[in-house]
Amino acid sequence: MKERIKECLQTKWLGKNIIYEERIDSTNLLAKKIGEENVMSGTVVVAEQQTAGRGRRGRAWVSPEGNCYFSVLLRPQIHVEHASRLTLVAALALAEAIMGVSSIQVQIKWPNDIVVNGRKLCGILTESSLDGNGLKYVVIGVGINVNQQEFDIAISDIATSIFAENGQLTDCACLIAAFLNCFECYFEQFVMTEDLLGLQERYNELLVNCNREVRILDVEEWSGVALGINEKGELLVRNHMGEVKTVLAGEISVRGIYGYV
Ligand code: BTN
Repeated sequence: MKERIKECLQTKWLGKNIIYEERIDSTNLLAKKIGEENVMSGTVVVAEQQTAGRGRRGRAWVSPEGNCYFSVLLRPQIHVEHASRLTLVAALALAEAIMGVSSIQVQIKWPNDIVVNGRKLCGILTESSLDGNGLKYVVIGVGINVNQQEFDIAISDIATSIFAENGQLTDCACLIAAFLNCFECYFEQFVMTEDLLGLQERYNELLVNCNREVRILDVEEWSGVALGINEKGELLVRNHMGEVKTVLAGEISVRGIYGYV
């Protein structure tokens, strides 16, 4: 796996150091551990299987063999408050990589899920650590359902895999390299301004919520029409009074009016 990723890699610095484990508890946990040490920015932890894969909101990420599980360790010199924007940068790179490698058309469910035909294909878990000088490191963990053919009954309505969509087996190493190639470029663009101005248009093109009715699960629930993201990565939503409100990722949950998307 490690050698195959390297064969397909066209990056300047990202993924030059790869830590490969056949089986691990969670690639994010190892990436955070080495983040506390002096390990270089751009290091990628990859595993074939996870025994304790972690999702957002404290959920588990079931991680059988055949899919992609990896975490990228970054030490960006950006303002702490801008770090969560990296999740949107990663989502965009992930969407491009999957479309490039598999030729299936994917969309982004704000802020960072990749979906196909209303079902979730990938998840991203971004975790960061601070010290007295600001951001110490950021770990971007990515799980992609690649060659999985069956899903647990509990998630079979809302999850999909590349195989389930196109009936073909995909090389995980090649897909991870495609992500790293694209993400390095988008990351460099992002850190120059620390906003999404340069990536916003493409992100909004792929945004599944765009021009759709969404429900915002805030302290009080409200709904409106999503208009796209702004340069801060916030979702712009027009409520029924015609006012445009901004919704900040991580603070509240956004659901489509019909089901998962
Ligand atoms: C989500 O809940 O949507 C985020 C899922 C993130 C899963 C990936 S798999 C690789 C990395 N290691 C983990 O334990 N989680 C992330």
